Amino acid sequence: MSKTLLVTGASRGIGLETATRFAMAEGDVDTVVMFARDSEDFTTAVAELKKSVPAGTTIIARTVDVGDLEALKTAAAEVLEEVGQIHLLVNNAGYTNPVPIQQVDQEDFERTMRVNLYAPFTLVQSLLNNGNTFDLIVNIASTAGINGRSGWLSYSASKAAVINMSQVMREELAIYGTRGGGLAPGRTATALRKVLAPDEDPSTIMQPQHVAEVIETLSSPMGRFIDSENIVVRL
Ligand SMILES: NC(=O)c1ccc[n+]([C@@H]2O[C@H](COP(=O)([O-])OP(=O)(O)OC[C@H]3O[C@@H](n4cnc5c(N)ncnc54)[C@H](OP(=O)(O)O)[C@@H]3O)[C@@H](O)[C@H]2O)c1
Repeated sequence: MSKTLLVTGASRGIGLETATRFAMAEGDVDTVVMFARDSEDFTTAVAELKKSVPAGTTIIARTVDVGDLEALKTAAAEVLEEVGQIHLLVNNAGYTNPVPIQQVDQEDFERTMRVNLYAPFTLVQSLLNNGNTFDLIVNIASTAGINGRSGWLSYSASKAAVINMSQVMREELAIYGTRGGGLAPGRTATALRKVLAPDEDPSTIMQPQHVAEVIETLSSPMGRFIDSENIVVRL
């Protein structure tokens, strides 16, 4: 059966690796919808992917700021209309601005919560309210949401909330046959990690394709046997 995957934050890092992995695999997924903000990186990544996917696989790219919740709802409704059903959803877009507690700015805290927490919620809610049922929802949290990290107050708090929200989704949506929940990566070599740990050598930590591979496993028949409320993926 043909399935559709929607990935947010698909311009680079874990999101782009996930979109690429599903698009290139010869599995059930034949439509990959990619959300990110407008950028040269995104345009280039989408163009490259479109050139290399197998025949019969469709890439749909939408530019949207997931922190603009009204724009996100509109993009979700439009894309659902176009594809008919979103079977797999990977809520991956993330934002961080690590600063000491004294310097946490209220507006920036709210932006962190909008992008990391309210956006995944809004996407799930608006798709449900438009009649969509999901096979799998993966909300990308972080190990920083399990244990708070010094200097990362707003990011850690947003990810802790993602873990809890994912547990609720997992329980409440099980009646529709929806699997999944939170997935918490540890240190992964991406642009966001560079913001959190500028001096770290990226070759010493996990790579985005490792996280993408675990997401792919979750969506496979084998994924049914992985029963955890929050899957930790780390080196
Ligand atoms: N890297 C790590 O060590 C690590 C560890 C644990 C969890 N995570 C989580 O993994 C997820 C992916 O991050 P990454 O590490 O792969 O970082 P990344 O390479 O910097 O990618 C972040 C993605 O999020 C998108 N994004 C950010 N703000 C957005 C917005 N307002 N609207 C739409 N898209 C937005 C970016 O797209 P544009 O900027 O192009 O719009 C980009 O595609 C995040 O949720 C992050 O918190 C990462």
